[in-house]
Amino acid sequence: MQNKQTSNVTILAVESSCDETSAAVVMNGRQVLSNVISSQIEIHKKFGGVVPEVASRKHIESINLVIQQALDQAKVTSDDIDAVAVTYGPGLVGALLVGINSAKALSYAWQKPLIAVNHIEGHIHANFIENQNLEPPFICLVVSGGHSHLVYVKNYGEYEVLGRTRDDAAGEAYDKIARALGLGYPGGPLIDQEAKKGDRNAVEFPRIYLENESFDFSFSGLKSSVLNYLNSLKQKNQDIIIEDVAASFQEAVVEVLVNKAVSAAKYKKCKTIALAGGVASNSRLREYMAENCLNNQIEYTYPSKILCTDNAAMIGCAAYYKYIKCEYANYELNAVPNLELVK
Ligand code: KG4
Ligand code: ZN
Repeated sequence: MQNKQTSNVTILAVESSCDETSAAVVMNGRQVLSNVISSQIEIHKKFGGVVPEVASRKHIESINLVIQQALDQAKVTSDDIDAVAVTYGPGLVGALLVGINSAKALSYAWQKPLIAVNHIEGHIHANFIENQNLEPPFICLVVSGGHSHLVYVKNYGEYEVLGRTRDDAAGEAYDKIARALGLGYPGGPLIDQEAKKGDRNAVEFPRIYLENESFDFSFSGLKSSVLNYLNSLKQKNQDIIIEDVAASFQEAVVEVLVNKAVSAAKYKKCKTIALAGGVASNSRLREYMAENCLNNQIEYTYPSKILCTDNAAMIGCAAYYKYIKCEYANYELNAVPNLELVK
């Protein structure tokens, strides 16, 4: 079913799946009127990672304020809003529930439809916001702290997952190696910075491609290899050159991600590759992907850093394409921590 209204559609979107409380107002899927993000990173840093209980409590403290700021910055009121969208998974159950309950309450009070959005689908849609000409089909490499997916985006809302990680997500591998190097949390941006000063050919870490033609990823073997390397240096009382280890580890991750994404584009005869998720901010990934896409006559696009991180604007964008198809949720909507992109 098609919605009668497809223009001037204004959606309030809420995202609280992990450690960012965010609300945004998005018009017609691609025009962001506001995107307020309240990050909890400073709180979780002390613990070396996200503490789920603390995350839920902090979401409760900030969500009403964040939503009000999003409405104020967009200069809209409840009367201007056509639907309320929210992330319902994957993510931390307690954190997701805060956003879901707020969105349900507003949808009910304002009598506006409720739209449930998959977080990974949101990350993919971040690409539509700044690249107004982007249209499916394309290949999207979604790399975040919790997920690594190689997705064929056939059409709006139609996905084929070509590959996924069999163990750690790419961001998780970055975070674990950063911890082993004593760099702190979140590790991705810190490794990115260190790597700029290092020699990416200093240590030959394994590139794990799995079986022939597989689009799946595996980062646990690489992680063990880096940890073994660090332990062997420590046992021999040799100095660890952090920037060289960071650059060499990063190169092993990036090479596999880019080569698999390019192979997937050739396999699907796709002319465009998009990046998404927190790791899509990585400077070497962006650079290496650009070189390889150029060499293979593939168009390449990625969101700005603020739209790579968890944010509600990407949820509002994804929700628009559900709104025009009248894909509404009901008030029994629950959090689905392990929600898949394709059911
Ligand atoms: O998408 P995101 O904000 O949250 C999840 O949905 O997981 O991704 C967070 C992940 C963290 O693992 C973080 O270390 C990683 O993205 N990350 C990076 C960079 N910036 C963030 N990884 C590598 N290089 C970066 N510049
Ligand atoms: Zn995310």
